[in-house]
Amino acid sequence: MFKFLKNKFLLIALFSTYFGFCQNIPNLQQKGNKMQLIVNQKPFLIRGGELGNSSATSMESMEAIWPKLTDMNLNTVLTPIYWELIEPEEGKFDFALVDDLIIRARKENLKLVFLWFGSWKNSMSSHAPAWIKLNQKKYPRVKDDKNKSHEILTPFSENNLQADLIAFKKLMSHIKDFDQKEQTVIMIQVENEIGMLPTARDYHPLANEAFKKEVPKELLQHLQKNKDKLVPEFLEIWKKNGFKTKGNWEEIFGKGLHTDEIFMAWYFSAFTNKIAKAGKDVYPIPMFVNAALNAPEKKPGQYPSAGPLPHIMDVWKAAGNSIDFLAPDFYNPSFKQWNDLFTRQGDPLFIPEHRFDETAPFKGLYAIGHYEAIGFSPFSIESVADAKKEPLGKIYDLIQQLTPTIETYKGQGKIDGVLLDKENNTQIIKMGDYEFTFKHDYTLNWSDGAKAEVWPMSSAIIIEIAKDEFYISGSGIVVTFKPLKENLNAGILKTDQGRFENNIWKTIRHFNGDQTHQGRHLRISVGDYEIQKIKLYTYE
Ligand code: DGJ
Repeated sequence: MFKFLKNKFLLIALFSTYFGFCQNIPNLQQKGNKMQLIVNQKPFLIRGGELGNSSATSMESMEAIWPKLTDMNLNTVLTPIYWELIEPEEGKFDFALVDDLIIRARKENLKLVFLWFGSWKNSMSSHAPAWIKLNQKKYPRVKDDKNKSHEILTPFSENNLQADLIAFKKLMSHIKDFDQKEQTVIMIQVENEIGMLPTARDYHPLANEAFKKEVPKELLQHLQKNKDKLVPEFLEIWKKNGFKTKGNWEEIFGKGLHTDEIFMAWYFSAFTNKIAKAGKDVYPIPMFVNAALNAPEKKPGQYPSAGPLPHIMDVWKAAGNSIDFLAPDFYNPSFKQWNDLFTRQGDPLFIPEHRFDETAPFKGLYAIGHYEAIGFSPFSIESVADAKKEPLGKIYDLIQQLTPTIETYKGQGKIDGVLLDKENNTQIIKMGDYEFTFKHDYTLNWSDGAKAEVWPMSSAIIIEIAKDEFYISGSGIVVTFKPLKENLNAGILKTDQGRFENNIWKTIRHFNGDQTHQGRHLRISVGDYEIQKIKLYTYE
């Protein structure tokens, strides 16, 4: 009996130490129906930017970049770290560059998300070290349907898995030792834009062998257990074949490129989950994978097949649980549509890459408002000419001020966002006791800009902070209100434009008269970036 109790206490002690450890390092925490990233024991909202692929290969090339990042009010840099530089010789590790990046980021008061350019970077294995590239026998590549090899390490090889896994585990253990106390490194992206090219699946003999085998029971169990939650397009495929629960890949999902892709997704995910798990075994900070979004007219193999894409997210999730979420990279304009797909099962949204174009800042604010995203990050962030003038910096300034408020009200249906342009110039939001009609500023037709062929994108975030009281922040919007209750009217009691200084709201101007169109609306013109606090009331 005494021994049993002793063991029990030992177990509890071990569990609480581990639990305490996980709470004490960057982690993801559920808040209401959303997820928060916790860093240094506080909610952290990523105002990010991703560096171009080769910028962080030396500290010298980074020198001119750091000031641009802080000038744009970033709090986080997404930077690749490269297997070829970390393990130039098998078993010999060099973390000098990793350490330098961490030390310098700390100095700039920036956090880091490391992108592990390991086995795969945009499908290819170009960042594998020479000792891998030069030993194809030991570290085999994928083959296409014509038996031609490509510079993509096959996920079907145990040697390939072990080589990447050992390096990644070493890296995570190094980061733990070097950074656990400070928590400069807050998340890890495992690999980059995984996907099979130019065929939908690998035809290496190891892959062909696996393709003939029965579908792993873990996948089938996951599908059965989550049948009512599966994404509709995937459920449809399974249904078409009679919801079979035993058989090989083609028996269960039918013959075709879609099955080749499902098969490949399982093995890509299993491989990457094992890498992530090995890293988390030593230092369990949040880890994710990113996806190159497929153009609808392209077939798997024409686009990188089997990446962590929404139509096969169930397969990616079934193959392991060490990857915390799948993330979209945006180089196409369908921002809402793709984000809806990625978040439809309640997963957190993080956008590690968005083309750094003029729409990016506005989409970032919208993502943080509407999806309550944990962060946003334009790609090639260092490419700006004049960082101080960048709209991104102005939007990030608003987000920075609002972060404590956003995190306080997260996950409770008290935050939303709008994204507007000429074609989609109106959006309605119901919040609290009111219906808000957000329109693009140019719908007022009060400025010459309204005559332009194309209107600049605009966006806003709205946060309900008390009964009848809201913060509305953004750029290029005009908002009117009506009560949800019928036969009532809404009016403005007070509109203040202000700033948060050290997290305390400071009114700069009390807006009324022309600024509210004599009490009819709240407006933030195109080119202005503001936070306004508004109190509404109703009358009969
Ligand atoms: C997406 C990749 O993830 C990035 O590393 C970079 O190659 C960009 N594409 C280039 O547009």
